[in-house]
Amino acid sequence: MRSDNRKEIKVCYGPRCRDYGGEALTVRLKTLGIDSEAGECQSLCPHSPVVHVNDKFIPGASIDEIIERL
Ligand code: FES
Repeated sequence: MRSDNRKEIKVCYGPRCRDYGGEALTVRLKTLGIDSEAGECQSLCPHSPVVHVNDKFIPGASIDEIIERL
């Protein structure tokens, strides 16, 4: 977690995750006014899209799962 207590969201932007939902999740988060960063491949590619919210990875992440962690 950031020092200002805001949640840190990193959407994997490796080639597999980007093409299998990561890019769409980034756009959806932005439309909801939620900031996210592009994350690096975590070698969890078969479970794409992978999203990291603070200290936990969400494999096969959906927008609802991300929001639940916020
Ligand atoms: S491309 Fe996302 S974990 Fe590898």
